[in-house]
Amino acid sequence: MIRNDSPLRDAGQPISVQFEEAEDLGSNASANPTLGDVIAERMGRRDLLKGLLGCAVIGATVSPIALTVAEQARAQTPPNTTPSFNFKEIAAGSDERHHIAEGYDADILIRWGDPVLPGAPAFDPLKQSAAAQAKQFGYNNDFLGFAPIDGRADHGLLVVNHEYTNEELMFPAIGRQDGKARFAGMTKELAEIEMAAHGGSVLEVRRENGKWGVVANSRYARRITAETPITITGPAASHPLMRTQADPTGTRVLGMLNNCAGAMTPWGTWLTCEENFNGYFWSRKAGEEGPHGKALKRYGAPGEWYNWGQYFDRFDYAKEPNEVNRFGWVVEIDPFDPNSVPKKRTALGRFKHEGAGNIVNRDGRFVVYSGDDERFDYVYKFVTEGRVDTANRAANADLLDRGTLYVAKYNADGTGEWLPLVQGQGGLTAENGFPDQGTVVIHARLAADILGATKMDRPEDVEVNPKTGKVYLMLTNNSRRKPEQVDAANPRPDNKFGHIIEMIPEGGDHAATKFAWNILVKCGDPSVASVGATFHANTTKDGWFGMPDQVAVDNLGRVWIGTDGNSLAATGRADGVWALETEGAARGTSKLFFRCPNGAELCGPYFTPDDETFFVAVQHPGEADDGAKEPATFENPSTRWPDFKDGVPPRPSVVAITRRGGGKIAV
Ligand code: FEO
Ligand code: CA
Ligand code: CA
Ligand code: CA
Repeated sequence: MIRNDSPLRDAGQPISVQFEEAEDLGSNASANPTLGDVIAERMGRRDLLKGLLGCAVIGATVSPIALTVAEQARAQTPPNTTPSFNFKEIAAGSDERHHIAEGYDADILIRWGDPVLPGAPAFDPLKQSAAAQAKQFGYNNDFLGFAPIDGRADHGLLVVNHEYTNEELMFPAIGRQDGKARFAGMTKELAEIEMAAHGGSVLEVRRENGKWGVVANSRYARRITAETPITITGPAASHPLMRTQADPTGTRVLGMLNNCAGAMTPWGTWLTCEENFNGYFWSRKAGEEGPHGKALKRYGAPGEWYNWGQYFDRFDYAKEPNEVNRFGWVVEIDPFDPNSVPKKRTALGRFKHEGAGNIVNRDGRFVVYSGDDERFDYVYKFVTEGRVDTANRAANADLLDRGTLYVAKYNADGTGEWLPLVQGQGGLTAENGFPDQGTVVIHARLAADILGATKMDRPEDVEVNPKTGKVYLMLTNNSRRKPEQVDAANPRPDNKFGHIIEMIPEGGDHAATKFAWNILVKCGDPSVASVGATFHANTTKDGWFGMPDQVAVDNLGRVWIGTDGNSLAATGRADGVWALETEGAARGTSKLFFRCPNGAELCGPYFTPDDETFFVAVQHPGEADDGAKEPATFENPSTRWPDFKDGVPPRPSVVAITRRGGGKIAV
């Protein structure tokens, strides 16, 4: 989000689109060759510049090694007994309401402003305060995770990220505040409400008589905000780059910011991922002149998307140059202990983490995959040194503090390599600016540049299918990729609609440094030849999608995709959830299950362990359609979902999808 003043954007652009377009900055100026460069050398730059020829040649190149690795993985994969998705597809389109397949209910579980903590006042959009917001459900729900209580699928903790705030939809009569407005309508009080609306919520939820509800006054209920004390652990803890005036030890930070997707761990903790943290820092000019110029530029900081730095020195780069280094991490939280101090696990690296898809490797080590959501940025994985202890939960408490961080290189022949971000190896030396592992993880992007990682089309969510061991990577779009920059893993120039990559670890070992990969589907409208979409021919006119962002795998091993960025203008359809076949003859067939209301993005798809409930988060409802002439505001939203009351703004909400009469979803 570079917001209104960006030459890239129109003033009326939805704020979420501007978040996406922030990533347009393409802050990766490293000289890493794209695979296109490699192929270009081989076949001559002139031919490659014809673009499509380049794609065709690369697409046809799959080496025997890749096939062998894929074959090995297949040999370890159980035979495909996965049932196809059984539901009647809904029509694509966009209106003020949400839509779900026939025979299912999609009920609102909790909305922005609803009570979370005891004593929370009822939501009143005209009488908001930071004190009220700190006890109420935050804004822009993103990741959802469910942790069963006593092994139950109908009673547990629902953890929720609150990624960011839309001031123009939250507060009366102020409109958009960044860009040309220069935050003229902002006050310290409004900034404090925004800070309290960020972070996360822990809710105790229970299903009774078929319907989900939030348990009032639960002993587990918790709000995390931009001011919650958090401990910094791992290689960056106490590093000089992490020390500030308020925290000379470099081990304690207030709050987490822009928590996008995440994951649950097998030991029942919540991994919540800081994404576009750069936008919270002030001011751009100070950043350019500051001591960390190169790194700041690579991370797009200070971004000035919010003006908190005008009221709070720690967000003003000129006054506190190291505070920005304390954001951009994966945070681990124990939702079962509301007094536990969250931990920023710095061993997993600092970048714009989308999520934290994970699996316990067959040797017991824990493996976390994470995309860095920016145009031309990278895919990472972290492999713990220790093993998961399934008998003793406490033994896993600091498992994520020791291990190896890797970044992915996708070869043109369908193989890939994980390159270790380890100080002293691969050029990560003091001479190159990496005197210790703390610097490597704090400046992970710069380290990955040196290693020669592959520049991707905005890596969003990654999930492992525990049934097959295959890894699904959402690449949401990259309209900035030029024809001469295409490569095998990012084969479309001006990639407006994104694609999905399937990765197969060598020998089924997620700790291995080699993998095979292929493109599961190139997204967009398959009826328009120039788009080059590759959905299965059985996909209907409602069944295709653009901009894959989130992925959930149900307990049968079936893959569901959530999208961000579809609109009437972009694809003739709202964002939603599509079921996507990944195995067998129907592979690549997609089918629309749930549709968001106008302006909203689909976040947080998560299944309960019995597959009877599918939780989804509807984020930023009411934003203007991409093609709208007028910006959406508190007074003029594109929907007043879910309350539909005059004067009540749209409210980001969690939705519980269940089958009417009970039963598993889509079976
Ligand atoms: Fe917050 Fe990359 O989505
Ligand atoms: Ca989002
Ligand atoms: Ca996302
Ligand atoms: Ca997105």
